[in-house]
Amino acid sequence: MAKEESLWARFLLGFVLGVLAFPLTVVGYLTLGWAPAASTAPPMPFERYIAGTALHNRISREAPRREVSSFTTADLVAGADIYKQNCAMCHGSYQEAAPAPAIAKGMYPEAPQLLTAEGMVTDDPVGVTYWKVQNGIRLSGMPSFGRILKDQQKWDVSALLARANMLPAEAQQALKNTPRIVRAPGAAGSRGKDEN
Ligand code: HEC
Repeated sequence: MAKEESLWARFLLGFVLGVLAFPLTVVGYLTLGWAPAASTAPPMPFERYIAGTALHNRISREAPRREVSSFTTADLVAGADIYKQNCAMCHGSYQEAAPAPAIAKGMYPEAPQLLTAEGMVTDDPVGVTYWKVQNGIRLSGMPSFGRILKDQQKWDVSALLARANMLPAEAQQALKNTPRIVRAPGAAGSRGKDEN
């Protein structure tokens, strides 16, 4: 009897220690300063998996649905202007062989070059890209444009990216033109004309 009890006690002790070991290791890893904090550090164990799965599943649940074919050439041209002014500084320009912007490489995760073959998001439904533009991506350099752009602008730039591998010539041209920053007349620093 006594022997059985002591077996049980040892089993319970082992079980409790086993259950505690994992959370204690995680807390220790974080509090002892072992976890990476710099954008240049290699990823934590499972970091990509956790971040990628959480993002993917949340977006699949919430992304609005819309057909990319419902966007006109004028929408795509408007999207190109939005892109140049708000996105190109991180996601790169349309010029062939243009190197990725320096800040794109300094982030963790790096900003994908959305107009290059490797970085395009043409496989994603337009609503998924819209969700990212609207909400941004947590713990990354991707800002939320929820309050920065109008709803139509967010859709236009998302449609541009969804169609990036088969853009009409007008939208391609709009992407190549130098961005125009239109300032309000009389605003401080304004020279009263479009400037770069
Ligand atoms: C300050 C830099 C920055 C700006 C400006 C920015 N982004 Fe991003 N964006 C990022 C980073 C960094 C990521 C990668 C995030 C990740 O992998 O979790 C990203 C990711 C994305 C993705 C997901 C790409 C993929 O492969 O799934 C899309 C789509 C996107 N951005 C669109 C835009 C659009 C459209 C704009 C402009 C309206 C924009 N971004 C502006 C930094 C930026």
